[in-house]
Amino acid sequence: MKWEAQSPPDLLLTADHAELDGLLADAFEALKSGNGEQAFASVDLFWARLAMHIRAEHLHLFPAIEALPFAAADKAKTDTMLNELRSDHNFFMRELVAAIKLLRDETGGTAALTATAEGLRQVKDRLALHNEIEETRVYPLVYLRLPPDEAAALHSKMEFEITNMPPRFADSTETGL
Ligand SMILES: [Fe+2]
Ligand SMILES: [Fe+2]
Repeated sequence: MKWEAQSPPDLLLTADHAELDGLLADAFEALKSGNGEQAFASVDLFWARLAMHIRAEHLHLFPAIEALPFAAADKAKTDTMLNELRSDHNFFMRELVAAIKLLRDETGGTAALTATAEGLRQVKDRLALHNEIEETRVYPLVYLRLPPDEAAALHSKMEFEITNMPPRFADSTETGL
């Protein structure tokens, strides 16, 4: 997605949220189908894509926000909000690592598929609120306050992270990228 300096807030990460929602829906479908191999592949893809998105936020977006010149009171509020978002990220990764381990160890047994779906439901609920906070309070902030050239550079770095698929997905055509 091309950066348009005249149309903030940027939609790159918001569009990625929508793609991730689609991949999570695919994972639920695969878990429901009872096909262990397909369930593993779907959950693995969602995990990889969410990890890439989180990496873009941790490495580039959040530091850019932390470097903005806030008044002290706003700075404290922003730091608290970012720490909560980081804590959500840790929760998502912990749950997904556990889900992948379960699916791998149990090779798609019914109990593993059910337990994985339950774990993913918790991820889905927390992710919905998390993404709403980012889209309404975080993403607009950085693009409205950064000079256009810095915003464009930030956009490029984040775009690289969210399209840089791990090598194990080299042949995948399901990413929509
Ligand atoms: Fe996030
Ligand atoms: Fe996000």
